[in-house]
Amino acid sequence: MKLRSQEWYGKNDKDGFGHRSWMKNQGYPHDVFTGRPVIGICNTFSELNPCNAHFRELAEWVKRGVWEAGGFPLEFPVMSLGESQLRPTAMLFRNLASMDVEESIRGNPIDGVVLMMGCDKTTPSLLMGAASCDLPTIGLSGGPMLKGIHHGQELGSGTSLLRMADELAAGRLPLCEFLDAESAMNRSKGHCMTMGTASSMASMVEALGMSLPGNAAIPAVDARRNTLAQMTGRRIVEMVREDLPMSKILTRAAFENAIFNNAAIGGSSNAVIHLLALARRVGVPLSLDDWDRLGSSLPCLVNLLPSGEHLMEDFYYAGGVPVVLRELAEAGVLNRNALTANGRTVWENVAKAECWNRDVIRPFSHPFKAHAGIAVLRGNIAPNGCVIKPSAASEHLLQHRGRAVVFENVEQLHAQVVDENLEIDERCVMVLKNCGPRGYPGMAEVGNMPLPPKLLRRGIKDMVRISDARMSGTAYGTVLLHVSPEAAAGGPLALVQTGDMINLDVPARKVCLEVGDRELERRRAMWTPPAMPTRGWAKLYVDHVLQAHEGADLDFLVGGSGSAVPRESH
Ligand code: FES
Repeated sequence: MKLRSQEWYGKNDKDGFGHRSWMKNQGYPHDVFTGRPVIGICNTFSELNPCNAHFRELAEWVKRGVWEAGGFPLEFPVMSLGESQLRPTAMLFRNLASMDVEESIRGNPIDGVVLMMGCDKTTPSLLMGAASCDLPTIGLSGGPMLKGIHHGQELGSGTSLLRMADELAAGRLPLCEFLDAESAMNRSKGHCMTMGTASSMASMVEALGMSLPGNAAIPAVDARRNTLAQMTGRRIVEMVREDLPMSKILTRAAFENAIFNNAAIGGSSNAVIHLLALARRVGVPLSLDDWDRLGSSLPCLVNLLPSGEHLMEDFYYAGGVPVVLRELAEAGVLNRNALTANGRTVWENVAKAECWNRDVIRPFSHPFKAHAGIAVLRGNIAPNGCVIKPSAASEHLLQHRGRAVVFENVEQLHAQVVDENLEIDERCVMVLKNCGPRGYPGMAEVGNMPLPPKLLRRGIKDMVRISDARMSGTAYGTVLLHVSPEAAAGGPLALVQTGDMINLDVPARKVCLEVGDRELERRRAMWTPPAMPTRGWAKLYVDHVLQAHEGADLDFLVGGSGSAVPRESH
């Protein structure tokens, strides 16, 4: 089999000399260029992305495995998106990072790829970019942090912060206590250890078959994470020799398994957008409605924050994703024959998975929560759909009619929600506009709007909230997200006014604005779109970003360009 990298290194002319000679300045001997599979280790290390800050060390373990198996590992950096640091939102750059990944792979002498992923957006951006090249590719997640402990109580990243912030706003938690928890919550290397977006995406990688079994839950600091990295390095060399590209793994069956798994783990609503975008990169038909049809009636088996009480460390000790997939398979839900990165079917990988803690991973027959997947709602306020995660919502609010209190943007929300004179009570429906892909821009995680302090002080813990934003996978509440089309694109959400009545019926999959068509037409005639960015990446993004129900990819990035070797550079 002719290796792609030999188009660079296998030539005895000016160009071959150039490609090899400059690499030799790092000390590589000549024989590494004569037929070893070249493995690109796509590393999202960055000190500005604390969740991935241990990746330089982890990459060394991958390299061990690659060398052992007869490959030639070459690590390369790509844009790293730190959810906790990047403004206005890491999601604005997911597609940009995916372009970095795609072009870095295609333009270089690479035969196979290891994707090192951790913090939320680093996983979809790497999968999307690599999928558009379609070389043999395997994922390696960085692993979750150890659980937070503060004053004897467990703290989950994100979720516990949101709860403490509510307590602080209600005057029930002293500021010194709040600040003291800061160094106790995120106390080890790794990504968020709740079942937030990072853990959901790492689980998705495993359920898709894009990693070795066990990838999602091994804590970042556990020695077995290093072992997994080494085994991943060994395996990618074999995948090159077997000519096993991503597209052989990322089939419709694999995407369905990812949806089943996301329901069973109580996974993040963000997985919806990322999976839709990834499917469109590999040409697999997948729609927003597939999420509801395939996943919404499934139970949640995993008792982890934000839906439950435990954390990723507990999930690993209980058996992790393999146990969940075995439960799904034995219930007749999983596509057992889907191929995975180790060359075996998903069923072959999980058939003997054992659960070691039934409080953390419940059996399918006695689940943690019934009907836990993503529900997709439609109505005149969201003609192309919106989503809600019922497992994180309040049961009594899933059918609700209330008066809209509208915030035109996030600045207005923050200014007005703390106003003691704001006319709002717990029956109202909070509506936030202009936070979608074009509006924010980047579709920030602001959909779980803070509740008014005057209601928090009365012990109110949840209200219906609707927006075109996303919310953190660590968040909770009766929150309708991803309203499509978004307000900034002229969707009907833009026309909602304070005082309108909104009727929510999750079981019927309906959300309706009780305003007549004629009145909506009148409002539309008076609507003016918000100002858009005029230069740079943000302009390219708003000019080309698709709506949430299509995965919020850029229109010209849908699909792939393969891994054909580009023409010579000199
Ligand atoms: Fe990086 Fe949560 S902030 S995973």
